[in-house]
Amino acid sequence: MANKNLNAAKSAKKDEFYTQLTDIERELQHYWPHFRGKTVLCNCDDPYESNFFKYFALRFNQLGLKKLICTCYNGSPVQGNELLIHFDDLDAEPTKIAYKVEITEVKDLNGDGAVDLADVRYLLQNDRNVMATLESGDFRSAECIELLQQADVVVTNPPFSLFREYIGQLIEYGKKFIIVGHQNAITYKEVFPLIKENKVWLGYGFKGGAAHFFSPYEDIATAGDHRRDMIRVSGVTWFTNLEIPKRNEELDLVCRYSPEEYPKYQDYDAIEVSESNAVPYDYDGYIGVPITFLNFFNPEQFEILDCCEPCIRLDILRKMPKFKEYKSRQKICNGILCQKKYHRIIIKNKHPKPL
Ligand SMILES: C[S@@+](CC[C@H](N)C(=O)[O-])C[C@H]1O[C@@H](n2cnc3c(N)ncnc32)[C@H](O)[C@@H]1O
Repeated sequence: MANKNLNAAKSAKKDEFYTQLTDIERELQHYWPHFRGKTVLCNCDDPYESNFFKYFALRFNQLGLKKLICTCYNGSPVQGNELLIHFDDLDAEPTKIAYKVEITEVKDLNGDGAVDLADVRYLLQNDRNVMATLESGDFRSAECIELLQQADVVVTNPPFSLFREYIGQLIEYGKKFIIVGHQNAITYKEVFPLIKENKVWLGYGFKGGAAHFFSPYEDIATAGDHRRDMIRVSGVTWFTNLEIPKRNEELDLVCRYSPEEYPKYQDYDAIEVSESNAVPYDYDGYIGVPITFLNFFNPEQFEILDCCEPCIRLDILRKMPKFKEYKSRQKICNGILCQKKYHRIIIKNKHPKPL
């Protein structure tokens, strides 16, 4: 239900989904060494609303950041009040203003003995040098590209409706990044080649494979899931090109290949493996796995070759355990009635064990 709503939101270009601080903390704990001495850019982040801004501002000294830049897009329809920012010289509502915040140090400015959000608030309210207005705050604008060029690492949850363009820009400018996106983006023709060439991979992910975003849209908030203003979206994950320990962990392979248990596709020379932990240790041909397999992908262990929606003969599928028949996914392939699988990543085991 929630994903249906998300798709509707995507086509309506409703992009206000705010990431929870706990989700950011859970993921970013694995990347700390990458931040020391670096400039971090959060370029879809209204400091009023964004927990990415809060995360980095609060840990500025702990992480040893050189600089934190946040930019706010003028299309954001929401105003928060966590950080009360005043533009005395501007008549417009803060929500209509695109602006940037640039921080190069966070000190105990209010003298209360601790460096915390109160100091960040004090800094924003009292140091005019840290804030400046932008024309639009659009990540594609010249002024934002200039900020992107200064950045070492970009960390944010970009608008779902612009994900292709967003990640394309990061690659074009050779930036390191940790960004939120839906796992279906793996199959996009603009994204899959990056995954295949090991230029982008998945991070650790959200708890239970789903994110709960704060959302201002009452029409798509999922009452009953959590609070009324939260939306649960399954399949949301983190995309990165920073090295993380997880990428060096080998998937433990315990299953043995047999033609009965691992049918071949009708239109692709590969076997179907419908669960990541069932990849056989002794098969040296092409293997089709669900896109969620990328959560376990180690480039030393496997090679990624393709992404497709292959099909299997229906008479073979009907003999398989857990088979579900979907009339809408059936098609005739080489004269035989088949059922199309959902997207599969075609992989090869680099070191199959002999039988
Ligand atoms: C999915 S929300 C995430 C907000 C924040 N990064 C977070 O995770 O809490 C995406 C944000 O991108 C902003 N946005 C939409 N189009 C944009 C654009 N072209 N350039 C920059 N930001 C944009 C939206 O206003 C929205 O606040």
